[in-house]
Amino acid sequence: MPINLVFLLLLCSLTTSTIFNTSRALQFPQELFDFSRDFVPINSPSMSPSSSSYYNIVSISPSPSPASSAPLVPAFFVLGDSSVDCGTNNFLGTFARADRLPYGRDFDTHEPTGRFCNGRIPVDYLALYLGLPFVPSYLGQTGSVKDMIQGVNYASAAAGIIFSSGSELGQRISFTQQIQQLTDTYQQFILEMGEESAANLISESVFYISIGVNDYIHYYLSNESNVQNMYLPWNFNQFLASTVSQEIKNLYNISVRKVVLMGLPPIGCAPHYLWKYNRGNGECVEEINDMIMEFNYVMRYTVYELREDFPDLNIIFCDMYEGSMDIIKNYELYGFNVTTDACCGLGKFKGWIMCMSPDMACDNASNHIWWDQFHPTDAVNAILADNVWNSLHTKMCYPMNLKDMVAPPK
Ligand SMILES: *[C@@H]1O[C@H](CO)[C@@H](O)[C@H](O)[C@H]1NC(C)=O
Ligand SMILES: *[C@@H]1O[C@H](CO)[C@@H](O)[C@H](O)[C@H]1NC(C)=O
Ligand SMILES: *[C@@H]1O[C@H](CO)[C@@H](O)[C@H](O)[C@H]1NC(C)=O
Ligand SMILES: *[C@@H]1O[C@H](CO)[C@@H](O)[C@H](O)[C@H]1NC(C)=O
Ligand SMILES: *[C@@H]1O[C@H](CO)[C@@H](O)[C@H](O)[C@H]1NC(C)=O
Repeated sequence: MPINLVFLLLLCSLTTSTIFNTSRALQFPQELFDFSRDFVPINSPSMSPSSSSYYNIVSISPSPSPASSAPLVPAFFVLGDSSVDCGTNNFLGTFARADRLPYGRDFDTHEPTGRFCNGRIPVDYLALYLGLPFVPSYLGQTGSVKDMIQGVNYASAAAGIIFSSGSELGQRISFTQQIQQLTDTYQQFILEMGEESAANLISESVFYISIGVNDYIHYYLSNESNVQNMYLPWNFNQFLASTVSQEIKNLYNISVRKVVLMGLPPIGCAPHYLWKYNRGNGECVEEINDMIMEFNYVMRYTVYELREDFPDLNIIFCDMYEGSMDIIKNYELYGFNVTTDACCGLGKFKGWIMCMSPDMACDNASNHIWWDQFHPTDAVNAILADNVWNSLHTKMCYPMNLKDMVAPPK
């Protein structure tokens, strides 16, 4: 048994050092991430959403505030999974990578970046709304304070709240490890600018957390470690929620005061599960969606409790399920006409084999809800980001949206 333990520790330390060494060792094209200097994308025509169809039909979204206007908050930090990964996994040994075309083909640079989308992910839109540049990935920047001062994205595809979720795909940086990285960043800020300034910067910045779906996809639903026999969905939800709650308390302890906690999307409607559950007409898998709704309910309650316990913690919960179901139900209003099939993939609903090459992709992603077997298109991300920002189409955030959260006190 001690031998096993030693092996485990060795494995852990190896993994950790690989993770931390790659960030310095690998050369990555910085210009893709460095939007702060000459590449000021806002206002350039190509920056308007690659898919603008729904703008014509639903109300016009206000364009993100130009970079020249003062940012509303000093920085934007992101923690999570592939819903918001912007390049972390490019540096890891994993099957969960989006570093090749057609990923990114409709992004501002028309290059793959590691985003699991044809274009932008929600945090790209939100960074612009906050008056900030796109947030660089933790492993994709130099590690200097200058590179991190306006925010860092620690999100890693396949990561979960539970450490081992997603392990069958390879390396990933779990939620807890991401918070360790964030704590390292905080220490660097303290060394550079002093404790008080660092704490002020952190307390005024927005922290966006989007995690949990892999604890279903790659843990509970795949029945890892016989989990289904040991936990009912309700108990599993409680376990996830208490873990997230504890992590948010840890964040509070390093001065975090503004948090957007995202709920989970209806993965029971994702092409992969339509394929797997053999849905003839593409109706969503209800038993999965029921679990997701329950998770969101529990997380919303957790946010309510945190707000009670920490009156100066400004935390909101945004229910991706509500926003996404509105899009799926009212797809025509938003200009979509393909609701069940992914744009890119193979098999029924293109949900069988993951998106791996340009010839597996449709011509026009803008009329699709799903980009690949699990992830929505840029067009959907734009709508969801608008909802988080100012509840444009659906009230998704409780007790307020992000715009109200960051508004200066009257
Ligand atoms: C990581 O870097 C440290 C110091 O720079 C070195 O001692 C260690 O061997 C490296 N680990 C790996 C896995 O490269
Ligand atoms: C793609 O689809 C959208 C929505 O249906 C449409 O507005 C747009 O013109 C299409 N683009 C191309 C290049 O066909
Ligand atoms: C979960 O896996 C265990 C074996 O690891 C098996 O005995 C059990 O039947 C599985 N549960 C479900 C619901 O598939
Ligand atoms: C809070 O952070 C301080 C360092 O800033 C640390 O010493 C302390 O142990 C932390 N408390 C908890 C409960 O994590
Ligand atoms: C969706 O609309 C496009 C034109 O905008 C059309 O070419 C395509 O065939 C339609 N797809 C479906 C499944 O109706």
